[in-house]
Amino acid sequence: MSASVTPIPATGMPPVVDHPRLTVIGTGYLGATHAVSMAVLGYEVLGVDVDPAKVEALVAGRVPFHEPGLPEQLAEALASGRLRFTSSLREAAEFGDVHFVCVGTPQQRGSHAADLAYVDSAFRELASHIDRRALVVGKSTVPVGTAERLAALVAEVAPAGAEVEVAWNPEFLREGYAVQDTLHPDRLVFGVRSAWAEAQLRAAFRPILDEGTPLVVADLPTAELVKVAANSFLATKISFINAMAEVCEAAGADVSVLASALSHDTRIGGRFLKPGLGFGGGCLPKDIRAFSARAQELGVGQAVRFLDEVDAINLRRRQRTVDLVTEMAGGSVAGKRIAALGAAFKPNSDDIRDAPALDVARMLDEAGAVVTVYDPEAMANAARSYPTLRYAESLTAAVIDADVVVLLTEWEQFRTVDPHDLGALVHHRRIVDGRHALDADAYRAAGWELRALGRPTASGTVEIAVDDQDRLQATA
Ligand SMILES: NC(=O)c1ccc[n+]([C@@H]2O[C@H](COP(=O)([O-])OP(=O)(O)OC[C@H]3O[C@@H](n4cnc5c(N)ncnc54)[C@H](O)[C@@H]3O)[C@@H](O)[C@H]2O)c1
Repeated sequence: MSASVTPIPATGMPPVVDHPRLTVIGTGYLGATHAVSMAVLGYEVLGVDVDPAKVEALVAGRVPFHEPGLPEQLAEALASGRLRFTSSLREAAEFGDVHFVCVGTPQQRGSHAADLAYVDSAFRELASHIDRRALVVGKSTVPVGTAERLAALVAEVAPAGAEVEVAWNPEFLREGYAVQDTLHPDRLVFGVRSAWAEAQLRAAFRPILDEGTPLVVADLPTAELVKVAANSFLATKISFINAMAEVCEAAGADVSVLASALSHDTRIGGRFLKPGLGFGGGCLPKDIRAFSARAQELGVGQAVRFLDEVDAINLRRRQRTVDLVTEMAGGSVAGKRIAALGAAFKPNSDDIRDAPALDVARMLDEAGAVVTVYDPEAMANAARSYPTLRYAESLTAAVIDADVVVLLTEWEQFRTVDPHDLGALVHHRRIVDGRHALDADAYRAAGWELRALGRPTASGTVEIAVDDQDRLQATA
């Protein structure tokens, strides 16, 4: 479709491109999904990445990570002729009316603050080639104040100067449900500095807005804060119930029954209230740390100091899981065969960034256990980052002769395996349910000893009330 330009209205607002050409800078988990989805929605899209392997894979129709539904959408988008990829930011600057920046913002080495080197470099280089009116939209998660700083940088380096505006459009997609969340988000947030930027963004999201998706229009700092506030809330809810698990362990109470009772309270609800091994991944942990670091810079560190505790509670769950395995192994895991089920930070993803599962596997390995890991999708990533662990090719191969099995990522395959079948393969029927995902009654009936964080030794199956089970999974 060719871009048509809305005439300048009487108010003097600059022209808005009705059907803008889009670029997506950074085609990782977020950017590839965004680029593909926007092309499927009918936009002409150019995806850009500095990693030639990623560009090569996407051009060839291969998604370089596991995301259900995305390979089919990529094939459809490529076949439409509306989606292309390049490694040239100059080409992107020439092509795009609206540029979405989706590069990574990892935790800095040796600090809790976000590393903004990739964002800074993408904005600077892209802007240095833009010689006409355009909107550069950040989607990466950044510390509040970054967008204002980048707006000044862009105005300074762009040949088109103040004709290039910066906006922020934080992203809330959940890995594993990324296509659905991109095409049908709960809400859109536009952080803008002008009516033109809002109108141009509305044009870039028209099919999604036409579905009735709620839109919140904000200034730049508020839009940046929405994302970290949402992640902080979710992390806090998870760590809250895990803190209750610690108390339950000391008091001889059952955190699953406690969570079930809380979940029926409509003011609280059951989402993100599942006790267990806690959150990980490329977003929640680094986002709450970066938020805490930024709040301190702003002189309001005290306001979010609780996030340091949220982080600490979360990390303690990993050690506690190792302790439970150790208890089940008879006081020491040295020389014991441990089957570690799961490596990805959550099911339906191959993302192992800050994965609690691999942290637990590593700690068991360091304590002398013979750890065998199996994950349906994350094996290659895990083996690259943790080459000293042993990896099995199947669930069956992982559990053969195991002294203790530990469930670390609640893949469907692990949740639904028949405990009798599993029991026939292991050396001892002992399992630690690190995700409160197994049917405790069925395991006990099949002769297993089952332990779960925050639960007494012989506790049974408990349901937590949720209206959408999958939303229990920690996401960001
Ligand atoms: N993954 C998620 O579920 C998710 C959800 C919401 C928000 N976010 C945020 O989105 C951002 C990206 O996250 P991700 O998980 O997609 O990271 P990622 O590491 O998977 O992808 C980042 C990509 O950017 C590329 N890149 C780096 N510098 C570049 C440059 N100058 N030009 C072009 N490409 C460049 C990298 O090669 C990489 O492919 C982060 O800020 C993250 O916090 C992620």
